[in-house]
Amino acid sequence: MKASVRLDIDRRVGPIDRRIFGGFLEHLGRAVYGGVYDPDSPLSDAHGFRTDVAETLRALDMPCVRYPGGNFVSNYDWRDGVGPPEKRPSRPDFAWKSIEPNTFGVDEFVRWCREIGTEPMMAVNLGTLGPREAADLVEYCNLEGGTHWSDARRANGGADPHAVKLWCLGNEMDGPWQAGHCPAPEYARKARQAARLMRGIDPSVELVLCGSSGRGMATYMEWDRTVLEHCWDEVEYISAHRYSGNREDDTPWFLAEGVEIDRILDDYAGLLAYVRGLKRSDRRVFVAFDEWNVWYKNHLTDGGWTVGAGLLEEVYNLEDALVCAQYLNSFLRHADVVRIACLAQIVNVIAPVLTRADGLLVQSIYHPLRMFSRHAKGVSLAPVVDGPTYEAGARGEVPVLDVSASHDEETGAVSLFLVNRGTSQDLEVEVSFGDRRAGTAVEVEVLSGDDPKAHNSWERPDAVAPVGESGARDGDGKLRVRAPALGLTVVQARLEPRS
Ligand code: AHR
Repeated sequence: MKASVRLDIDRRVGPIDRRIFGGFLEHLGRAVYGGVYDPDSPLSDAHGFRTDVAETLRALDMPCVRYPGGNFVSNYDWRDGVGPPEKRPSRPDFAWKSIEPNTFGVDEFVRWCREIGTEPMMAVNLGTLGPREAADLVEYCNLEGGTHWSDARRANGGADPHAVKLWCLGNEMDGPWQAGHCPAPEYARKARQAARLMRGIDPSVELVLCGSSGRGMATYMEWDRTVLEHCWDEVEYISAHRYSGNREDDTPWFLAEGVEIDRILDDYAGLLAYVRGLKRSDRRVFVAFDEWNVWYKNHLTDGGWTVGAGLLEEVYNLEDALVCAQYLNSFLRHADVVRIACLAQIVNVIAPVLTRADGLLVQSIYHPLRMFSRHAKGVSLAPVVDGPTYEAGARGEVPVLDVSASHDEETGAVSLFLVNRGTSQDLEVEVSFGDRRAGTAVEVEVLSGDDPKAHNSWERPDAVAPVGESGARDGDGKLRVRAPALGLTVVQARLEPRS
């Protein structure tokens, strides 16, 4: 089968905000305790951070990591997690029926972020606490000193401010499962007050309003419209969340999941334009897709009132990785709407990395994030794609090829991200570049296989892993690329003017 992709470096969607390659770390299961933090492990450094985990995550080059939840945050008091560790209280964690020892808190998190080269993105509790405690946390993190909480940070060893720029105003407050869940107008009032206090302490913070927790919610978009109308002038972003699943074991349908992500982002683009129009506003609010992943196999959510129980330890296969690649394609295609996105989560809990006492396992979904974050730089281009379609059940007729592309003006590099959603037929893809041509050096990396259910295991850690291939350029400066079925193919070349 054949397909063609036409790229023109002047047909842009917009600049790529690299924060779309962010992650999410929650106090949940073995994400923190036994994941990033394990002071008793011989694999940990003097701070108790697992060095193998830090190194593997550092390679993802994540620009930001959201913390400490998730559902956890809505009954969490950040003050329990600072100060001398031996004085910190153990608390019951309402969300995951676990014990929270509080030996890892905001200071440890920020130190860990610096170690792996990422920026902290902090969520505040607007469920069972309020604007005042949220502002206190900004004071603790961001003021130099001379006030109660900034001096407390200094006393706790943080001479320099943590300088946390990104803040989430609660988590999934539309969800009845959320501690402190309330109707949209009530949340909006609380969020607006919190925003004003937090920005009063540090005017440079950027704030994320809680949007709907999913497209399946009865209040989807209605909640978002209400909270945006109340808080338009106070926030920079509204959150979107989605977890995808192949519950009917229907691979062709599941592999068309990108259609759904596009729809969600189109929904938000429309809503944001509507509220902006309503407000006659000059400012823009963007989407922070701050929880996204595949998650449907493991629903072990009860920690049995222990520390670090093995919750939500989903095993990821090839088709899951291809769905993750489509999320990233969609984020790039909507670069004018999405500014932040966080893979939920990063270690052990619905995560690309699993740990055990003697090492770690990289799961299939690790690879798309690494491939995109390494290559998608500069501006997102709008590709014109011509190719076959297939019948994806209730989703109807869907293109076999899912495509995004980027162009880095500084280096001249163009990158192409091709997901072949087909299960059996490879595609021969011709890529043309308008008034440019590809240089001779073409880098190709492919993540694919015959079995959509193939997954990495401790016995076969590389069952699903990318391989390098050589790419071909024809005499006309077009690329000819093989995009294998059940595969993500990433192509990079440098463009030169046609002589
Ligand atoms: O990521 C797991 C959970 O999913 C988060 O705590 C919550 O925000 C979402 O429902």
